[in-house]
Amino acid sequence: MSRLKKAAVTGWPVDHSRSPVIHGYWLKKYGIEGSYVARAVPPETAFSFYRDFAGSGLVGCNVTVPHKEVAARACDILDEAAQAMGAANTLWLDDDGRLHGSNTDGLGFLGNLDQQAPGWDRKAGSAVVLGAGGAARAIVWALLERKFTTVHIVNRTLQKARDIQETFGSQTIAHSWDNLGKILDNASVLVNTTALGMTGKDPLRVDLSPLPVSALVTDIVYVPVETELLKQARQRGNPVVDGLGMLLHQAVPGFEKWFGRQPEVDETVRDLVLKDMGVAP
Ligand code: ATR
Repeated sequence: MSRLKKAAVTGWPVDHSRSPVIHGYWLKKYGIEGSYVARAVPPETAFSFYRDFAGSGLVGCNVTVPHKEVAARACDILDEAAQAMGAANTLWLDDDGRLHGSNTDGLGFLGNLDQQAPGWDRKAGSAVVLGAGGAARAIVWALLERKFTTVHIVNRTLQKARDIQETFGSQTIAHSWDNLGKILDNASVLVNTTALGMTGKDPLRVDLSPLPVSALVTDIVYVPVETELLKQARQRGNPVVDGLGMLLHQAVPGFEKWFGRQPEVDETVRDLVLKDMGVAP
């Protein structure tokens, strides 16, 4: 058998993924004999693909939409984050052929803020999360990991925010958008996890005036890199962190599992992804 370790990003479609750029750079930087490619997995074969993962010839993979839930169901072992989210984005085979699943979105969120805004969680008080999709779930998990006392989840569809509250318990509170003004005045972190503000989508309209200027504002949208929300927050003096770093940091645990080395999220990888997105660094 070839000694070349192969990993991939899997999903449907998968061509838009930036992951091959990120892992390709790290493989080259560390001189590791390995490959990382995009592999499209049609929905009708997704469960069997992950369930029979050993037959794929890969040592592990990333999973992107729409397969994160089906991949989690196909795994033999899930870590705590993947269990809490019911979704896995990073898989690997162990020496006994068992398939492990992790969800590294929350770790990516934390890694990004730790790098860009060290000490951001020192006064872990109240946080406000906009949106209640898969990314919101990962970020709520991450904020509770860092001992935030209250995490407010604000969503258009209130029931989805309530579902997250049900998973994580009494430290999380579900709200509709009408409540936002009331909860911002006490927040130390504000995170947008909705697709609003992304190029081609509707704008995100938030009145930031009640938010303390000491509060950290971050966005998971990274196209554009500086969203309107971040621009508004920066102009009024809030510390801001863009969402591109979350994409880069969520890739770290997978690379380490598959190729045996913890990669560094450096300026070069950030610039390469920006270039791939057609944005001049
Ligand atoms: P992901 O799993 O990547 O987080 P998602 O499940 O599609 O993506 O979630 C998108 C989030 O953006 C949801 O919270 C969604 O709100 P609903 O649950 O009410 O659908 C939010 N969102 C998308 N478009 C929106 C809009 N026009 N106004 C308000 N919220 C919106």
